[in-house]
Amino acid sequence: TITPEFVQGLPKAELHLHIEGTLEPDLKLKLAQRNHIDIGQSTIEEVQQTYQYNDLASFLAVYYPAMNVLQTEQDFYDLAFSYLQKAAANNVRHVEIFFDPQAHTSRGIQFATVINGLHRAIVDARALNVDAALIMCFLRDFTKESARQTLLEGLKYSDKIIGVGLDSDEHNNPPLKFSQQFADAAAAGLHLTSHCDIDQKDSIDHIRQALEMMDVERLDHGTNIVEDPDLVELLVKKHIGLTACPLSNSFVSPDMKGKEITQLLDKGVEVSINSDDPAYFGGYISDNYYAVADKYNLTKDQVVQLARNSFTSSWISPEKKQLYL
Ligand code: ADE
Ligand code: ZN
Repeated sequence: TITPEFVQGLPKAELHLHIEGTLEPDLKLKLAQRNHIDIGQSTIEEVQQTYQYNDLASFLAVYYPAMNVLQTEQDFYDLAFSYLQKAAANNVRHVEIFFDPQAHTSRGIQFATVINGLHRAIVDARALNVDAALIMCFLRDFTKESARQTLLEGLKYSDKIIGVGLDSDEHNNPPLKFSQQFADAAAAGLHLTSHCDIDQKDSIDHIRQALEMMDVERLDHGTNIVEDPDLVELLVKKHIGLTACPLSNSFVSPDMKGKEITQLLDKGVEVSINSDDPAYFGGYISDNYYAVADKYNLTKDQVVQLARNSFTSSWISPEKKQLYL
């Protein structure tokens, strides 16, 4: 049987991790104090009591206001470096980190403040044997004009960003809303991925748009693609990775989607296990592997395959990928 030690020891890549979602209550309190911000709570327990959500919208309503404590470059450094230390402890060798520039620029923080802090932490984490890169996400509930501006800013730092993604509230915000920005990002040499959250009413439609009309290279969540065998076949044919997040799913949907993950593995889809927003969803990457392996009785081979998939579907250069496979 699978043990926590076994999953912890497996070398892994993490491909679906929002850096803002790694803001632990203790760091939140420390930054609030450092920046003289009243967040309305003063103990870890009080902060944790505000973590009540049962769907994507109610989660996001807790998640965005918490970011107010992030003000300076050092704050973004501290956020990222404390995550990267946890990644190292989880045997994560490579991580592609999402960040939401608009969640910060929309409250008056400079793009440069955000990216310089995150990037400096990434440079320092090389000493921990963790290789990290940044994926800039557009907030899909903001306008495409705002995404356009954000892309222009991001392109000034194109040596520090490997791709673009799409996150936040999916309701009535289909991938195609951002087709122009994705095409522009691809033309600038950036990789493409998109959240297609499970249990959203138009999810299958959104998955189809992302795959067939926008040429994304990965899908984030999206496990309900199993409802459509033709789309699953397309994933396999085009080697498109799918980044599942079991503990996150168990908060915003009825379960961890272990059945869907197993079916996708059986069909040869490059599905991987990730932590999404670990400070909010009760666990880091090894906790996610263990939870799904334990609950759905995954075999050792299946767990090893999930970890292999995390490297195969990563955006590590092909030469470097060989080192992990
Ligand atoms: N932002 C952070 N986590 C997210 C998720 N799982 N879906 C959409 N937006 C997010
Ligand atoms: Zn996510």
